[in-house]
Amino acid sequence: MLLVFLWRWAIQELKQTSPSAYLDTELLFAHVLGLTRAQLHSQHPDRLLTTFQQKNIQQLIARRKLGEPIAYLLGRQEFWSLSFEVTPEVLIPRPETELLVQQVLDTFCNKPRNIVDLGAGSAAISVVLALARPAWQFVATDCSPGALQVAERNIHRYHLQTIELRQGDWCQALTAGEKFDVILSNPPYLAADDRHLQTESALAYEPQNALISGKKGLNDLEIIIRQAREHLQQDGFLFLEHGYQQADFVKEFFLNYGYQEIKNYKDLAGHQRVSSGKWN
Ligand SMILES: C[S@@+](CC[C@H](N)C(=O)[O-])C[C@H]1O[C@@H](n2cnc3c(N)ncnc32)[C@H](O)[C@@H]1O
Repeated sequence: MLLVFLWRWAIQELKQTSPSAYLDTELLFAHVLGLTRAQLHSQHPDRLLTTFQQKNIQQLIARRKLGEPIAYLLGRQEFWSLSFEVTPEVLIPRPETELLVQQVLDTFCNKPRNIVDLGAGSAAISVVLALARPAWQFVATDCSPGALQVAERNIHRYHLQTIELRQGDWCQALTAGEKFDVILSNPPYLAADDRHLQTESALAYEPQNALISGKKGLNDLEIIIRQAREHLQQDGFLFLEHGYQQADFVKEFFLNYGYQEIKNYKDLAGHQRVSSGKWN
């Protein structure tokens, strides 16, 4: 089939369900044909596609039309201007999480420190921090063996020797008595009945245990705040991403469990999305 015919068909198909039909088509064609987007546009419209390429594109367009996230179809996602492998075993890293990374970088310089990333998923947070702070040592955990396999490949891709992966339920992945300078996490924090789970069909494709945390979305945030005390050095810090309406609850957990110097950080839209507390 000629490229131009398949291209027109793809745009018409995706226009029915995707708000980014043109961009999606560009990305999927470039992916299948092994081209950059710029190279794609220099192709002759009468280029003949192989049957394999045509079928591959048709299948991807059909999946996209049903709402599957483009990141899973491409098998990768940008985060902090780096490319990460993603599969349905891991949450697709969100731009919002860059606030957590930024605050940790702004707070601590490159002197040797040990850090825990609880619920690392694709390991995007640990990889970005490890590249920016080569003197730091990381333990990145997750309860999901499938997620840890993706994390391992992302760590390998960036040739990092400073990130150790461990499987386990939050701080149970850490050894008794093991202490860290910083613990950070972007845990699941959606309420089970959060309207986004109904209105954003793409969320149905992501691992539900990466998204939902009990009735109000607060279960895992509280567990981590409680458990982290056993594993923070004196004057160690816990940094957490949370929902934009959860900052007051998180502050209360920090206070109830005896943390000090509790701070909150806003994203560019003015939403309180990250909080930290000091343990001493
Ligand atoms: C919101 S995702 C964050 C993933 C990644 N850190 C990021 O920011 O893109 C939460 C992660 O926590 C993991 N998780 C959920 N419950 C857990 C638990 N009880 N113990 C450890 N990890 C857990 C999930 O598998 C998922 O990878």
